[in-house]
Amino acid sequence: MTIAFQQCIDPDCGATYGVDEVHVSCPRCAEHDRVSLLDIRYDQTDDVSFETFERRWMTKGDEGDGALDFSGVWRFRELLPFYESTDQVVTIGEGRTNLQDARRLAGEIGLGRGRLFLQYEGLNPSGSFKDNGMTAAFTHARLIGAKRVACASTGNTSASLAMFASLSEMRGIVFIGSGKIALGKLSQALDYGARTLQIQGDFDDCLRHVHQIATERRELGIYLMNSVNPFRLEGQKAIMYRILEARDWNVPDWIVVPGGNLGNCSAFGKAFLELRERGLIDRVPRLAVIQASGANPLYELYTKRHVRWNDGRYDRDAVDRLYAEMDDSGYKPHTVASAIEIARPVNLPKALRALQIMDGVVREIDDDTILEHKAMVGRFGFGCEPASAASVAGTHLLVEEGVIGAGEDVVCILTGHELKDPDATVQYHTGIEKPDPQAPALPPEGRLANPPMPVADDLEAIIAAL
Ligand SMILES: Cc1ncc(COP(=O)(O)O)c(C=O)c1O
Ligand SMILES: [Zn+2]
Repeated sequence: MTIAFQQCIDPDCGATYGVDEVHVSCPRCAEHDRVSLLDIRYDQTDDVSFETFERRWMTKGDEGDGALDFSGVWRFRELLPFYESTDQVVTIGEGRTNLQDARRLAGEIGLGRGRLFLQYEGLNPSGSFKDNGMTAAFTHARLIGAKRVACASTGNTSASLAMFASLSEMRGIVFIGSGKIALGKLSQALDYGARTLQIQGDFDDCLRHVHQIATERRELGIYLMNSVNPFRLEGQKAIMYRILEARDWNVPDWIVVPGGNLGNCSAFGKAFLELRERGLIDRVPRLAVIQASGANPLYELYTKRHVRWNDGRYDRDAVDRLYAEMDDSGYKPHTVASAIEIARPVNLPKALRALQIMDGVVREIDDDTILEHKAMVGRFGFGCEPASAASVAGTHLLVEEGVIGAGEDVVCILTGHELKDPDATVQYHTGIEKPDPQAPALPPEGRLANPPMPVADDLEAIIAAL
């Protein structure tokens, strides 16, 4: 028998709420003008073993429990048992992703052969890791009877939300900013039929609005799907379970992940804490969160200003000071890795907690270095979108710093598919901002640039080019 509940993460509060309630922050803390995130917690007595999960891996994906076994999230359902019955689960076979032993790339970034692994979350149905979380949040939305669901998005969240909304017959609404959005992602939201609102603002503005609508205008019945929703993070824990499963349950030395709104790293810390509490693992890997230099609030707070979780009593004033400085200077986040172009990550406290659980580090990487490592991922494996490559660039930096040893096992999370943002790739290889196949190739920009060669419509010229 399992009892699931929601709990405030602030140790001085710790208020609990039922899973049939909808909150995106703690109501009791709100009464004292504090904002505190919620966790999903379990009072658990069911025993579970890694063998149970592994046995389900071969399932074809039939109805009922077969569909759950087929999912790379619900295969691990005893580790996220917040639903009341399996009929509530909304699944599309998400999470059947790949852990690649990236041997050639390992050598390029100073790691030993067989030490670097790439977790390709771009192989999810909507092309990014978001499907891991959406399946869980939609399951909760169905549990509480939601009809309309919404999110703010830099692109991937909206694609995933739109896909699950059409599948579950809920109305999907997405808020996107007016800046750059990768066209691959926007096209998905449009195609899957979500109402797409393009707000005259950036991601942080969109999130503020949709958050306000979901929490203060409850009569509109809009269920919030951003990663401030604790049920989403329950699904994202499964990325860690699959990595362990692919490694025969051997814990790696490092997990390296890009950080934007900081949902993933938060979920990873919780996943390892729970596995250790349940006696399924006896050590946790270290965590490296990699931000873009142009959108680096966690780097600024954790690495430069030494803000620590401190068992929940972190320095809230330091965070407020940073945000006030950003306001005063008119700071706007900017990076080629548009998925992580976020100035005020909502999961900051949980990320600090994950960094404590996993003895973590945070680094920042500039855009040119991100793009260079994206090209390396493409050349030595199969590609990823710019934000994802920050994890590989960050690993390279940490190896150079001597923080990661050449003989340690490192798993980088490649969060999104290469085809999400083809413009970034084509621009890197050709130096042309808007690729036009008729135009002559310009001098290439990137070190690994591989521009198309113009060749005359003539056999001898083609053979000469070969
Ligand atoms: C491809 C990709 N990578 C990384 C991130 C950042 O993830 P998180 O918000 O969990 O830090 C996102 C979020 O949109 C994303 O789409
Ligand atoms: Zn509270």
